[in-house]
Amino acid sequence: MTTMKNAVVLVTGANRGLGRALVEAALAAGARRVYAGARNPDQLAASVARDPERVVPLALDITNESSLAAAASRAPDVTMLFNNAGVVSSHGVLTSSTARIMQDFATNVFGTLAATKAFLPALQRAGAAGGASVVNVLSVVSLASMPALGGYSASKAAAASVTEALRTDLANANIRVHGVFAGAMDTDMTRDMQMPKARPEDVARAIFDGVERGLDDIFPDPMSQGAFATWRSDPKELARQLASM
Ligand SMILES: NC(=O)c1ccc[n+]([C@@H]2O[C@H](COP(=O)([O-])OP(=O)(O)OC[C@H]3O[C@@H](n4cnc5c(N)ncnc54)[C@H](OP(=O)(O)O)[C@@H]3O)[C@@H](O)[C@H]2O)c1
Repeated sequence: MTTMKNAVVLVTGANRGLGRALVEAALAAGARRVYAGARNPDQLAASVARDPERVVPLALDITNESSLAAAASRAPDVTMLFNNAGVVSSHGVLTSSTARIMQDFATNVFGTLAATKAFLPALQRAGAAGGASVVNVLSVVSLASMPALGGYSASKAAAASVTEALRTDLANANIRVHGVFAGAMDTDMTRDMQMPKARPEDVARAIFDGVERGLDDIFPDPMSQGAFATWRSDPKELARQLASM
């Protein structure tokens, strides 16, 4: 079981949406320090004002190696990395340009992997000292494609595969790797989509609960729990349901 006492948390994409809620949830759970990563750290003022002693703003673009290296040297004590930053750049696989689909992969797959590598020395030190965690924010569309977001779905499926590989690769270093198969949340990302959406605050709390319980795969909201139940009994049925959205 992972304990939050003395945890030093880093959240990527912390300036809005789920990332901002994860910062709040980390503070509420008792984290010793929370590094809030954002491409534009000016957008972190409200989170820093919430608890200036514990919230440290950090300039961080997960698609930029030098930005990641600078952030990693400013945050050498991270014990828990939340790879939350993500984009929906493409839509259908036939209607989206290759450049758009590549943008989804650049952020959601390669950016997530690059952030993990950048903070690996810190996580390895924490692992040797008692334990560390990586939490990758995936999606229900990691389980089956939503064709309306086929490029994004492919990137989130690849991110789930990378998450599994990391789980094995990092187990000997005492670093737990969690995947979060989130359903629709009420954030900027889904502003134009009409469907039931979970509150990011509730999802963030459920993610921390799953991490503390040591779950590999976390289904933090009613949509993701229903999707997982469907996928377990009939993966094709989940694909059919997502195709109708
Ligand atoms: N919303 C949903 O329904 C839903 C469902 C399942 C999974 N998810 C996943 O949940 C995570 C959070 O999404 P959200 O709903 O909170 O979306 P959001 O409100 O659009 O926020 C996305 C965050 O990612 C950041 N980001 C994007 N590219 C980045 C980069 N290269 N470097 C650093 N930060 C970057 C954004 O920063 P800027 O402000 O600088 O753009 C923003 O802070 C994502 O991984 C998303 O795929 C979302």
